[in-house]
Amino acid sequence: MSDGGRFLCHLTEIPDGTARGFDWDRGGERPVPILVFRRGGQVYGYRNACPHIGVPLEMDPDRFMNREGTHLQCSTHGALFRVDDGMCVEGPCVGRPLRPVPLVVDGEGRVMPAGG
Ligand code: FES
Repeated sequence: MSDGGRFLCHLTEIPDGTARGFDWDRGGERPVPILVFRRGGQVYGYRNACPHIGVPLEMDPDRFMNREGTHLQCSTHGALFRVDDGMCVEGPCVGRPLRPVPLVVDGEGRVMPAGG
């Protein structure tokens, strides 16, 4: 079955408890940078743009977690975000969430944005 080019990766390509970055090709002019966090069979997607000043969260590829592995972290000024809802809980943008990107995992474990 065609996924319309939305396929991001297989669930197992995101180590459990970590996140990976992707360019989401929505068929427009430019792909949208997103990140996908995995916990077991669950995935959480967000735009890869810090609500503080809009820069990508990571400086090194796929390094989105704080040292403790408990939160997503912005490399620029250290803001911490809950993985479950993207809310900033520490740093210069406290109370401002990452923009969610709804995702689906199909029966074969393929991770895709919901609804394109
Ligand atoms: S740019 Fe992310 S905390 Fe400042």
